[in-house]
Amino acid sequence: MPDQTKRPRIIAVANQKGGVGKTTTAINLASALAVGGLKILLIDIDPQGNASTGLGVGHELRQGGSYDLLSGDASLAQATLQTTVENLTIVPAVSDLIGADLEFGQVDQREFLLRNALAQGCPADIVFIDCPPGLGLLTLNGLVAADAVLVPLQAEFFALEGISQLMRTIDMVKQRLNPQLELEGIVLTMTDKRNNLSEQVSADVRGYFKAQVFDTAIPRNIRITEAPSHGIPVLLYDFRSAGAQAYLALAAEFLRRAKSRKVPA
Ligand SMILES: Nc1ncnc2c1ncn2[C@@H]1O[C@H](COP(=O)(O)OP(=O)(O)OP(=O)(O)O)[C@@H](O)[C@H]1O
Ligand SMILES: [Mg+2]
Repeated sequence: MPDQTKRPRIIAVANQKGGVGKTTTAINLASALAVGGLKILLIDIDPQGNASTGLGVGHELRQGGSYDLLSGDASLAQATLQTTVENLTIVPAVSDLIGADLEFGQVDQREFLLRNALAQGCPADIVFIDCPPGLGLLTLNGLVAADAVLVPLQAEFFALEGISQLMRTIDMVKQRLNPQLELEGIVLTMTDKRNNLSEQVSADVRGYFKAQVFDTAIPRNIRITEAPSHGIPVLLYDFRSAGAQAYLALAAEFLRRAKSRKVPA
């Protein structure tokens, strides 16, 4: 049982660029930590609902999910479901979220809807928030609710350009909305050792962001792509695959880094 009096550490998985591995990282890092014995909650705030599907929560099971949580129609406990992974629960996403910017745009404290919902208490050790692409109101809610941001970064040509925009947004959120927000780190995704450009971009990102980049990089791996259609993380789909082993290594590094910074995990 997680300690009910302890507030969980809340990590937003965010990058405004689409398709860089946010959801894949949220699912597989959360699963690796859950398999290790921590109680993990994943909150899917992407109308695409890929994290929900990838963890075996079909559309028919979702009800209002994170939409109801944000609009105040459901408590966290009511919106939470069990996934296919022990110790891993999820607040799924429904497509109604697609209108969030318009619907919640005029609401009082519109950037604080998720933060306020989580303030009711949360029985988990770590919470991950899978943010949608873009820097709209949903992503802002993720960043305002979080203690730290984890940024998956695909090792490709425009990677550095995109990330400077994200860093500016994180700074803006820190200044105006959530002064405590930290950068948990940058995770290089879909790396390919046989591809010179991927290697060069990885080296550039490490040269620029230094220790803020996780040592563990996630290689491009077909098993990672296949696992979601079975509703399970790659760890349960093919434990020996390079993808599963990379996410296990990332989870171990995540815990080591948290410990060395003395943040609860
Ligand atoms: N390491 C990997 N190896 C191979 N394929 C991967 C890897 N990581 C992610 N993918 C694939 O790349 C695609 C995009 O990944 P994912 O959905 O995690 O990105 P995302 O940033 O969450 O996208 P979006 O911005 O649309 O939410 C998916 O098809 C996923 O299966
Ligand atoms: Mg996604």
